[in-house]
Formats: sequence, structure tokens, C-alpha cells
Amino acid sequence: MYNPQQTKTLQGITEELLKSGKDINESSIEVLRDALRFHEYRYYVQTDPLISDAEYDDLYKQLEKIEKEDPALITVDSPTQRVGKGLIRDFHKVQHLVPMLSLENSYNAADLLDWDRKARELSGLSNIEYCIEPKFDGASVSLVYEDDLLTKGVTRGDGETGDDITPNIKQIRSIPLSASFSKYGIQQIEVRGEVLMNKNNFKKYNDALIEEGLPPLANPRNSAAGSLRIKDTAEVSRRNLEGFLYHVSFINNIDNNHLEPETHSGMLDMLWQLGFRSPKKEMKVVKGIDAVIEHVHAFESKRDDLPYEIDGMVIKVNDIQLQERLGMTSHHPRWAIAFKFKARQATSKLLDVEYQVGRTGAVTPVAKIKPVQVGGVTVSSISIHNEEYIKEKDLKINDTILIERSGDVIPQIVKSFAELRNGTETNIKFLKNCPSCKSALFKTEDESVWRCINLNCEAQVVERIIHFVSKDAMDIRSFGEANVRKFYKMGFLKDIPGIYSIDTDTLRTLEGFGEKSINNLQEAIEKSKTQPLHRLIYALGIRYVGETTAKTLAQSVKNIFDLGAYNLEQLKELSDVGVKVAGSIYEFFQNNDNLQLLKKLDSLGIKMEKQEAALSGGNLTGQTFLFTGTLTQLKRNVAEEAVETNGGKILSGVSSKLNYLVVGEDAGSKLEKAKKIPGIKIISEEEFLKLLPT
Ligand code: IVH
Repeated sequence: MYNPQQTKTLQGITEELLKSGKDINESSIEVLRDALRFHEYRYYVQTDPLISDAEYDDLYKQLEKIEKEDPALITVDSPTQRVGKGLIRDFHKVQHLVPMLSLENSYNAADLLDWDRKARELSGLSNIEYCIEPKFDGASVSLVYEDDLLTKGVTRGDGETGDDITPNIKQIRSIPLSASFSKYGIQQIEVRGEVLMNKNNFKKYNDALIEEGLPPLANPRNSAAGSLRIKDTAEVSRRNLEGFLYHVSFINNIDNNHLEPETHSGMLDMLWQLGFRSPKKEMKVVKGIDAVIEHVHAFESKRDDLPYEIDGMVIKVNDIQLQERLGMTSHHPRWAIAFKFKARQATSKLLDVEYQVGRTGAVTPVAKIKPVQVGGVTVSSISIHNEEYIKEKDLKINDTILIERSGDVIPQIVKSFAELRNGTETNIKFLKNCPSCKSALFKTEDESVWRCINLNCEAQVVERIIHFVSKDAMDIRSFGEANVRKFYKMGFLKDIPGIYSIDTDTLRTLEGFGEKSINNLQEAIEKSKTQPLHRLIYALGIRYVGETTAKTLAQSVKNIFDLGAYNLEQLKELSDVGVKVAGSIYEFFQNNDNLQLLKKLDSLGIKMEKQEAALSGGNLTGQTFLFTGTLTQLKRNVAEEAVETNGGKILSGVSSKLNYLVVGEDAGSKLEKAKKIPGIKIISEEEFLKLLPT
């Protein structure tokens, strides 16, 4: 969309705009909008940002301010206009300009050979050029642009008519609100594509649901489809959806002037040039079906490396005139076919239900199922979350069930087959007492999980220790879940402080604990005493306090005990701390047992303060850093943490604001870019380590 010259100009403009005191007026507002559109494109379409999130926010706020002062300046395609206004009342039905057809499926080489043979017979050609692209596993949508403006976003619906979800489509930042189709002689265009949630965002979203005691979503596909039907546009925006556009279904030309490309790959290129995320980079154009077969198989092996889910490939005749000649059957076009990858679904039997007690006392039913292979792993137990979930999926013991495992996501039950029941099925019983300590379970009105509220419940104690030593918490390597359970069962680890006084003589008597493993364990325990404060806060396992909130809390105090002095109001003022989170933190620090635990950890030498450097200005104060490539000595998050604790700042992209680019192995485009900007110091990992205090 933006050629290198424009990129340079827009980046220059951005730097000017970011200088404080710049006066934006009526004549320069469109320049500001263009700069914002450019950075949205760099971030969401090219996934290669040039400025940090904070710098983007700064520009965005400048625009918001001037539009607020003079609303007459607002345009429909201003970047501020993505933000929804309140709730959507109803989704109106809209007729698609062209019906949304589905594709014929193929599963092996023979199916593809057969399809190609038919196409060659019908066309009289001996060899056909095909365009191959991923089959995105999301929710299909249809977009209409008129006179260069996005006017409609519609769900598939029944293929003829769908729901008007335009306000929700506008929340997807990779979908431009305006695009210069007129340059291609296009007055009106209908573009088809798939909306999806990438694997990373899906995981984050599900982790947050689980933390709240809510059942996670089964797969990114369901989450995209569900998100598009949410009536609160702000919530849709929070879900970070992405849109891939892969098909032009209708064009109305200006003055019958056909300037649009004549091939499908050309169309994908045009969409990319206009600022859309089309599969331009993922597509491959080949001649003949043999090359297609080779490519789809090769791509299947790379499936897990992609940041989003795909369930196959789509093969399309590249020449659009030939597509028209081939036409369609009553169900699907003859010029395209889907090649489906191996299913990641399987059927199994629900044999029994066991109950697990989590570190916050949540009692979760876990289905024991007949072991089954799904997407290369054997699954024998699956969490079934809570009573509501069990009712919604209509699960009974002895049911035949459908299981899905998408990518590296934990397996989920999709549904039960009620039609296969034979009378041997029994209802799943819900517990009234904790399976571990037998105390009565409680459930609040606004929650769907039952909880054991006995803080000394053994199962909870063990889970809290496991969480405390885990990788993202105190990171006590070689301790791990198995050892915690073993030591607890044997009676020589009773609580979190016990980790620091573990008796090595007793360990020596255990099978598999040689001198070396004991030394490693001791070293890891010792090292954990100086973990940054936010890790300790996270390790305490306070409900709703994930890694981000733990960082916010650590930033706001000198010492962990200071948190005890915060009242609810003060906690709510911290970024991203809502009523529920504030309540949980408050309760934790008012509880005497928890304070005793902290005092004990303090007396054992665990660091309770934020690192001095960060408070008084470390030796990296005011310096900005960015890491690229693979680091060999430090993990990326540890290196970034080191920058922050020493007063430095991490930027998200290469720009003239960057002081240091730390280059690891196989560094790519960021390094090339940095070389062109004078003033950026390009340093190795070793040089970076030397900058840190010893
Ligand atoms: S082309 C008329 N291309 O798969 C042809 N579809 O099972 C229009 N899909 O309905 C569709 N990735 O929702 C096409 N690269 C891709 C696709 C794709 C995913 C979806 C789409 C379609 C369904 C068919």
C-alpha cells in the first residue's frame, strides 16, 4: 500500500507530530489521519510496526482531541470512527450482492486429480494455472466498499442473506475503513474473507476466562464467529480480531472502465496494495495439478508454525475469465476446491468424572475419556469446567462425545451425541463437599464454579506451591509439579516457606536424587530469592492477578508490604484494576495468614522490594531498547525485564526514538531498517550484558 518513499515521508511526518507542542489544525488533520492509518497498516497488516504502542496512542489522542473540539471535522473514515457508539440493538438482515457459496472438499491427491481433470475437460486446456492459499479457519464475512468507503460488513448467514455487522467489522484494525478502489476503476466492490482470532490472542482470551472461573471457548473459529455477534462493539474491539480477505465476488466499474486485475493472484495483490490483509504472502501460483499436490502437502507440515489456525488449503483457477467459463454447480464453484488437512477432531467415550481442586479452591470436574489420538497427541482426560457447561453440552457418563484439539490449545469437548444413547448413560453428579478436605463447597451468585473456601485444604496448598515455583512465577527450575507433589506426600514440604528450608539430607535418601540434581535444586531455590518483585506478587497466586496486573502492582510500590496500605479506591485507580480485581487484592493483603506468609518469606531472605535501580533511576534510565533475532544467553522476556528494572524502556518497533537495537542470531528486517537510521546503536547480546549492572 505504501511505497518506500511514502513510508519515509509518513515516518518523517510521524516524528514531527510526536514532537510536543505541535499545533494540529483543520488543514493538517488529514495528515495526522494518514499517519495513523499508515501505522495501523504497519502494525495489523504488515505486522511490522515502526512506532511503539505509546507513540501510536499519543497520535490517536491528538486526533481525538481536535475532533472533540470541532466535531464538524470528523470524517466517516477517520481512525477514531472505529470506536463503536454504545450497543448494537439488532443485526438487520442484508442480501449479499452475490450468494456466498461454499467450496467442494477434497482430502487426497486422487480427489485433486479428479477435480483438475474435469476442469481441463470443460475448458479444453491441457494445463491450468492455479493459485493456492491457506484455508483460514474462522468466520466468513462479506464486505462492501462504495466510492472507496467501507459501507457494509455482513455475516455469511444462509448464503443469500446475512446479518449486518458493520459496527463490529470496523473494530478489526486490519480492515481499512476506506481504500482507493477508484484507482482501479471500481465504484462498488464486494470482498469476501475470514475473520479470525490468532492463536496467541485466543490463548490469552481463554486464560482470562479460566481465571474468572468461566469455561474457555473450544477453538479460535468459535471465538471469531461468536465475537462478530456481540452487541457491545467495545468488547469486540478488545478481542483483537483479524481479517484476511481472499476473494472478490462483485465489481461495479466506473464508466465501464475495467482497470482491475485479470487473475485471482492479481486481485490478492490489488487488495494488499490497497491496505488489506490478503494472503498475498502466503499464496503460491503454479502450473498444473502435480505442483498443487506437492505444495499442499508441504504446507500441511508447516501448519503449526502459523500464528493462526488453518484447516486446509484452497486451490483456485487463477485466470478470472476461465473461472467464469467454468461456472458453478448448484452448490459450489467449479473453479475452486478446498483441500482439507487431517482432522483434529475425534470421537471417544466419556467414562467417568473426577474432581480437581485448584489453587484458588475452584473445584473443576474433569472427564476421564477412552484414550484417543487427536492431532498427534493422546487425550485421556478433559476439563469440563462447571455445571453450566455440562448442561449446555448435555454430557452424561457413557456418552459418545466429539473432541477437538486446535493447534496447541488444550483439547475440548465439542458436543455429545444424544442420538447414540442406549440407556446405559448416567447423569454427572455434582459435589457438595471438597474432594480433598471434605469441607462444604460454596458458589456465589455471579460465578459458575463451586469453591472450597478452606485455605488450609491440602489440595489447594499443593497447587499454590506448584504455582509459586512455576516458570512464570519464581521460576524454581527442577522443582516442578511432580517434585512438589512427591515432597508434599512424603511430608517434608508443607507450605511455600518450606521450599526454602527443604532438608537436603532427606532428599539424598530418595531415589533419583544424586548430588548433581540436589545442587541444581539448591541453586535454583537460592536464585529465586532475588526474583523481581512482580514475579513474587504473581507467585502468590492472588485471584485475578495475572502477570500484567502483578507488574502494575510492583510498579506502584517500593515494597510488597506497602500493598497492605492500599484501600479499594486506591487499588481501582491503578491501570487495568477493576472492582473485582481490586477486591481480591484488598482481601489478600488484609488477611493475617497471608501477611504471616509474607513475613516468613522476608525472614528467609526473599527480596520483598522493587530493585533499587528502577526506583532511583538505573544505569539505563531514559534509554530505549528493542531486541531482534534469537538471544542465546538470556530469554527475551528476561532481557526485557532487565532493561525495565534498570530504568530503560522497550519499544515495539525500529524508529528514530530507538537508542539500542540488540541483535541476536538470525536477525532480519529490523536490523536492516535500523542500519538506515543514524543514531541507533546496534549491539550484540554480549555488549548488552555489559551495559547491565554487575
Ligand atoms: S474462497 C466462491 N478462499 O472456506 C469461493 N474460502 O469451506 C469463495 N475459506 O466459504 C470462498 N479460507 O468461508 C475461499 N482462502 C480461502 C478461504 C475460504 C477459508 C472458507 C470460506 C468458504 C469456506 C468453504
